Amino acid sequence: MSANPFHLGWFLGNSYGVHGWNQQWSGADGGDWAQPDLHIDLARAVERACFDFLLLEDSVFVPDSYGSSMDFYLARALRAPKNDPLPLVPLLAQATRRVGLVPTISTSFYPPYLLARLIATLDLMSHGRVGCNFVTSTAERAAQNFGLDTHLEHDLRYEMADEFVELVTKLWDSWDADAIVMDRERGLFVDPAKVRAIDFKGRFFASRGPLNTARPPQGRPVLVQAGNSPQGQAFAAKHMDAVLCAVGTIGEMKAFRAAMRAKVAATGRDPDDCKIFYVIMPTVGESTEEAEERVKRRQAGRKAAPEMALAQMASLTDIDFAQFDIDAPIGELTTNGQQATLKRFLKQGNTLREIAQNYSYSYEDLVGTPDAVAAQMAEVMQEVGGDGFVFQGNLSRRFIAEITDGLTPALQRRGLVRTAYEHEHFRDNLLAF
Ligand SMILES: Cc1cc2nc3c(=O)[nH]c(=O)nc-3n(C[C@H](O)[C@H](O)[C@H](O)COP(=O)(O)O)c2cc1C
Repeated sequence: MSANPFHLGWFLGNSYGVHGWNQQWSGADGGDWAQPDLHIDLARAVERACFDFLLLEDSVFVPDSYGSSMDFYLARALRAPKNDPLPLVPLLAQATRRVGLVPTISTSFYPPYLLARLIATLDLMSHGRVGCNFVTSTAERAAQNFGLDTHLEHDLRYEMADEFVELVTKLWDSWDADAIVMDRERGLFVDPAKVRAIDFKGRFFASRGPLNTARPPQGRPVLVQAGNSPQGQAFAAKHMDAVLCAVGTIGEMKAFRAAMRAKVAATGRDPDDCKIFYVIMPTVGESTEEAEERVKRRQAGRKAAPEMALAQMASLTDIDFAQFDIDAPIGELTTNGQQATLKRFLKQGNTLREIAQNYSYSYEDLVGTPDAVAAQMAEVMQEVGGDGFVFQGNLSRRFIAEITDGLTPALQRRGLVRTAYEHEHFRDNLLAF
């Protein structure tokens, strides 16, 4: 590998939902949306390409923020129907041997004890390959599904998340790594001296412990988060092993990395122990012309249907963008939902039409043949300084192949990414470089 190799992950938006039911190249995926096969194919492909992880996004509500109605979303299968991704994890683990698997859970609604036990179980089942994407959940409708009238305030949610992670970590620590002795002669399966209560009493949560399953093989399964507001960054700096960042320029990547590393160092941790991943969506073609043509078609699609971006953004920010004149200057807006996402959205133009045309959830200036895109990614990473990229895009087996069988081998030939896993555990692979 090169002197400065980088990491790869796959961010699967709308994870266990409907993918491309009415698009070219989606095969039977529309009808089969509730079956695990597409996800199993994806997990196998990213493992073949030696990715660090597959992250499964999740949300727990049917949006109705655009046009004050669920109609737009349900008609297009946008964010609903969507299955719970957690039952997928054992199936993906069974189909793979090394790749990390990262389901998403909400710290605002999950009971910490249940989550600690669930993730420990999955880590034990998968021999140390599980992570967890901690989100605070941002939608009012999600909060209402869990009995709240309105969602908890943005910063308070992060204070809860902080305590949530502290508690689940203590529960994982309530068993020593060598607690299971299986000593036939002494008639001892577990050494009782190596398991203890934690008696945790916090501001939001309490749990006596100990956990009623063994310590996860990784000790602490890999902790991931993607909130990019100052509160989100502080939460990440304190606890996380990996952070996802959705920005549109190399300058923003550099600024994010510098800020995050400074915040991690300020907590007394080594900045290299918190890996930063930038969300990208390359366009790979058999020729430069073909790739450029595909970009043009995507831009034309965005221009023809600005409501798609507006509805998506409405569901992330709880702001009904259908209420505004699409051609009038939009000005400043505030949200109790995704704050960094809204800020970035509003920066993309003056009017909603302009913003919708320009908006993307990732860095997209990676266009060309597999080898050309590999070279562009190398340049970006050279400038940014580390640590990795996560791919996102409309899921089809064709897109999976473009990334894992076309682009990644080109990156491997250049020595930029791994060609084999060195370690058994997800965490060890993540921290290996
Ligand atoms: C790449 C990426 C993936 C995310 N995945 C999820 C997810 O699966 N579920 C979710 O509720 N929020 C998800 N989020 C939202 C974040 O967890 C966070 O709530 C959001 O970025 C707003 O954070 P902020 O208020 O700190 O800016 C994701 C964000 C990004 C950038």
